[in-house]
Amino acid sequence: MLLSVLIGPPARKRWYPSAIVGLTFVLSVAGLVVPAFTAAAAVPIQTPNIFEPVSTPAYAVAELSWLVLAITGAIFVVVGSLLVYSIVRFRARPGDEGREPPQVYGSNQVETAWTVVPLLIVFVLFLATTRTIITVQNAEPPPDALKITVVGHQWWWEFHYPELGIITANELHTPVSDRGNRRPTVLTLHSDDVVHSFWVPRLAGKTDVIPNRDNHMWIEPMEPGTYVGQCAEFCGTQHAYMLLRVVVHPRGEFDRWVAEQRKPPVMDPRVQAGRDLFYSTACINCHRVGGTVATGTFGPDLTHLMSRETIGAGVAANTPKNLRAWIEDPDHLKPGVNMPAMKLTEDEVDKVVTYLLTLK
Ligand code: CUA
Repeated sequence: MLLSVLIGPPARKRWYPSAIVGLTFVLSVAGLVVPAFTAAAAVPIQTPNIFEPVSTPAYAVAELSWLVLAITGAIFVVVGSLLVYSIVRFRARPGDEGREPPQVYGSNQVETAWTVVPLLIVFVLFLATTRTIITVQNAEPPPDALKITVVGHQWWWEFHYPELGIITANELHTPVSDRGNRRPTVLTLHSDDVVHSFWVPRLAGKTDVIPNRDNHMWIEPMEPGTYVGQCAEFCGTQHAYMLLRVVVHPRGEFDRWVAEQRKPPVMDPRVQAGRDLFYSTACINCHRVGGTVATGTFGPDLTHLMSRETIGAGVAANTPKNLRAWIEDPDHLKPGVNMPAMKLTEDEVDKVVTYLLTLK
């Protein structure tokens, strides 16, 4: 519409191109909005926000982004204004037929200007970007930085705390840092299958998660809270639901979380039937429950399953109802998921769920 105003009336009324453009726009907006609402119904999902950094590397990235946005925004305004001015000022007028505007060739001044100015701009952007990358990558973490190994799986995240003896999934817990008492977290990342990408926009830039290769990154959250992230590299059917959350605790709270996670699994005699059933199914080939015969590593560690807010890598809130639906038919909540339905009877599912609900 805007275009047709600028370039004058079309030769003939043609409704279909703009109708197609409009329809495509409506569909793509619906495509973005509808999944967001369905997801919001299942889990209290926050939207990752690149404009509200709360961690040292993210501050650096945001600062650079604003600089780049300011420079490119200024270019956009200048070029856009000149374009609009030219279109309006020099548009075809009655009586112009057969006349040509003046042709300008070989102006050294003009050509030098439009070669040198962009070169300088690109050079400034290049220097600023390089400086940020080097500052973030070469930062020396203090020796007592928390170390975590991140393993990417189709389609969930595994987190190992080698120094603390903790294994968890999809929810990364770290202590908060402050200027006077720094406690950054250093992540070593690799993949168990295909290429993934670890991205929590408010904490740091993206880092690829690659099989047979260790990549490194670090975060240093300055405010307690829960920060959401996601896999940022297409990795198969459920790439979009390879979500993760980072829970940043005040110091004392983090120590309590560590102490809880290091405890052996709860052994509640009231759920003996469910426990026996769980350990007699193929569940234990894929899942681990610390200190038991369940030692599988294909799926998430379940030792403290109920300490997590979500199941299925963020696909649903970790409620008894959702947990039951998940065990009954994981594919229903997360189509394409690698966890099979175990074909248990209603009663058996109830028993297994009752047992799992005790794994606090
Ligand atoms: Cu993992 Cu996309």
